[in-house]
Amino acid sequence: MNNIDRRGFLVRTGLALSAAVLTEACSRTFASQQAPQRRFTRWEDLRAQFLLSPRLIHLATFFLASHPTPVREAIARHRAGLDADPIGYWFEHEEKQEAMVLRAAADYLNADPTDIALTDSTTMGLGLLYGGLQLRTGQEILTTVHDHYSTETALRLRAERTDAVVRQISLYRSLKTVSREEIVDSLRKGITPATRLVAVTWVHSSTGLKLPIHEMALAIQAINRSRDERDRIIFCVDGLHGMGVEDFSVSELGCDFLVAGTHKWMFGPRGTGLVWGHPKAWPITQATIPTFSGQAYELWMENKSSQALPPSVHMTPGGFHSFEHRWALDEAFIFHQAIGKSKVTQRIYELNQQLKQGLAAMRHVTLHTPMSQDLSAGIVCFEVAGIEPRAVVEKLRQRGIVGSVTPYATKYVRLAPSLINSPKEIETTLEAIGTLRIT
Ligand SMILES: Cc1ncc(COP(=O)(O)O)c(C=O)c1O
Repeated sequence: MNNIDRRGFLVRTGLALSAAVLTEACSRTFASQQAPQRRFTRWEDLRAQFLLSPRLIHLATFFLASHPTPVREAIARHRAGLDADPIGYWFEHEEKQEAMVLRAAADYLNADPTDIALTDSTTMGLGLLYGGLQLRTGQEILTTVHDHYSTETALRLRAERTDAVVRQISLYRSLKTVSREEIVDSLRKGITPATRLVAVTWVHSSTGLKLPIHEMALAIQAINRSRDERDRIIFCVDGLHGMGVEDFSVSELGCDFLVAGTHKWMFGPRGTGLVWGHPKAWPITQATIPTFSGQAYELWMENKSSQALPPSVHMTPGGFHSFEHRWALDEAFIFHQAIGKSKVTQRIYELNQQLKQGLAAMRHVTLHTPMSQDLSAGIVCFEVAGIEPRAVVEKLRQRGIVGSVTPYATKYVRLAPSLINSPKEIETTLEAIGTLRIT
């Protein structure tokens, strides 16, 4: 095995293998969805797939995923293989496993695998995308004051490096009165003839507000109708807290790029994520990190250009990865598909409604996240009168309830009921918040 030379291997298997690999990936994905251990009739059975401490009520699993059984087992299998024979196992699995992951991600998103680049996190995707999108002199990036550190910093670094102009707008006046119309209207008014890129976040982790991405996309498409292809507005979305919660198909969403980590709501291996791009939008990207795609590498060894490869391949950063994690990502998509996207959404909405309604009825609590599921997803933000958010989270933790504080300039208590929670747990949480008083 030590003598395996990459070129020989790729020539033997390389491009010819891809079609066969994809076919196998398809049939395996289908077979996995049918497997009995992946079909749940009771939410308790789903919860039993996780090694989460039963002593705690976990309302912050969106922060970093706990791995369900199929993901955990796949990681263990790949790790054992790599530990026993790193080069042999890698050559045997690299192309096949990456194809399986892309196939499973594409099935979940209802997209084409060639429109997906694999990354290690949302932040990596945002950094690569915003750092490399080609802009002409005078073209500006429009973003908002509501975005996460990762979007804001990726854009600031881009601006510092290239003098790109980044302009921030607010999409609403108050969370108390915010509406879908106000958000779309603010976006429309914020766009100027110079706007080439719009960068927003689907669900704000600062407040739990969900943006009407589809309506925003329609507004942008209407403006684009009178623009040249070179000036078309490219709509980019940090979709981290939408994916794994919302029942959507990426092509119907209407954005040009969706960037997300898969190690939070999706329950994917820690250190995984993706960028999906519309085929018409991918050409505007420029890679920063060399890809390790077999085809690109092979062409390089033959002194040939890899220009003709899909841009998503170039945008999949190379170097070797923690492959045991990356190759187990298909299991997370299959896990979600086996539950069913609409069931996932319904369950998360129900638990969030229960929590929000309970909080709204408490006189010492100010709920900041809109009540309507039209404007919220799986994150609930609030304050308790007279108690600092950090102290609230600590007091809840003492009672075995795990929440978090929004990591933004304005701080709120943040709870995120998800698939691993039950109505009973939400009830217990509400009882605990109900008894919180200034001491
Ligand atoms: C909206 C948003 N985007 C991006 C991130 C960063 O995600 P990742 O860990 O996948 O880089 C977070 C939180 O961690 C977030 O809340």
